[in-house]
Amino acid sequence: MNVQKFISMKGKQPIVLITAYDAPFARIVNEAGVDAILVGDSLANNVLGFSDTLPATMDDMIRHTQAVRRGAPDAFIIGDMPFLSYQCSQDEAIRNAGRFLKEGGANAVKLEGGSSFAPLIRRMVESGIPVMGHLGLTPQSVNVFGGYRVQGKDENTARKLLEDAKALEEAGVFAIVLEMVVEEVAKQITESVNVPTIGIGSGRYCDGQVLVLHDALGLNPAFLPKFAKRYANLYEISLKAISQYVEEVRTREFPSEENVFRLGGN
Ligand code: KIV
Ligand code: NA
Repeated sequence: MNVQKFISMKGKQPIVLITAYDAPFARIVNEAGVDAILVGDSLANNVLGFSDTLPATMDDMIRHTQAVRRGAPDAFIIGDMPFLSYQCSQDEAIRNAGRFLKEGGANAVKLEGGSSFAPLIRRMVESGIPVMGHLGLTPQSVNVFGGYRVQGKDENTARKLLEDAKALEEAGVFAIVLEMVVEEVAKQITESVNVPTIGIGSGRYCDGQVLVLHDALGLNPAFLPKFAKRYANLYEISLKAISQYVEEVRTREFPSEENVFRLGGN
């Protein structure tokens, strides 16, 4: 996979992305055949225990991008730029984006935002850093939105989304994530730009889909957004497994003969 292949898949074949944050899951999603892995700043809420994505730091993101690279040496990996790593100044933003490639082993970065970020994105691409855009519900702006709400419901916001998508395409993004955009608007955007749209909660007509790994695997029993599908219930499976371990230590069922080392044996 590379950015040109990404773009060429538009209109031909659905593009499959999922997030991963560590080596063992990176290995699993890569073996399952996803087209690319997103190391999302949703690391903050899915792995680090925060309630939103804002606390993720550059150092968190680099460390976990490195882990994903070690777990999936040949995967196409996109590193998600965390809150305040690209909003303060263009120079700082480019340096931070470059860290994902130089230190993290990523192939590209993703950042949230519309047309006001187009000049920055153009500079990044000209510097050799492939950029994926992210429009619609952009979780780093949850405090401005006042919650996680579906986007593009009225004509003005729908038009703004379309303009933003065109501005990002013009700036040189290789793909655009559309998060929680009403299906009709996501379809219109998908038909209006030449780069693939990758939907999450944005309906059936995007060029690809992305899911948060922990949603897909059911690792958080308290959280399942309408748009996510739970393909497994790892919370229950894990709880059952560890409960059994607890029980077996207490009853001295584990370790058993097959788990022990003995004099003269192996
Ligand atoms: O951080 C994340 O997981 C994301 C996806 C939801 C697109 O940005
Ligand atoms: Na994100």
